[in-house]
Amino acid sequence: MPDVDWEALREKAVRMTQRAYAPYSNFVVGVAGLVDDGRVVAGCNVENAAYGVTLCAECGMVSELHATGGGRLLAVFCVGGDGEALMPCGRCRQLLWENGGPSCLLMTPEGVRTMEQILPQAFGPENLRG
Ligand code: THU
Repeated sequence: MPDVDWEALREKAVRMTQRAYAPYSNFVVGVAGLVDDGRVVAGCNVENAAYGVTLCAECGMVSELHATGGGRLLAVFCVGGDGEALMPCGRCRQLLWENGGPSCLLMTPEGVRTMEQILPQAFGPENLRG
């Protein structure tokens, strides 16, 4: 188990909600993730007048992960506007799986869980290897 400063991740995620662009839903989301080299990457949701084009907060975080050198996500904290843990949508669980794998930790409303627990029997890179 990595040593995770969950409160620092939560604070970063809450700060990200203040950057969210959510004029259509008014539902702000922020997320922060600890990378295996100690970096913290983060994101906020960015909506669009063409609603389906909306970028979830996790998309921005994963983009920052790669844009700043890559690595693996060890722990992720996603929050809504109330600052409480928010479960990533199904698509974003897939993003977290790709970039953190089964052992990546996620703070949930029920406490810390592994990605294996929140996306069981996931489709992943190994399924492409025949
Ligand atoms: N949203 C996220 O940013 N991440 C999630 O995992 C769930 C949903 C955003 C998308 C949209 O801007 C708003 O929350 C309402 O669905």
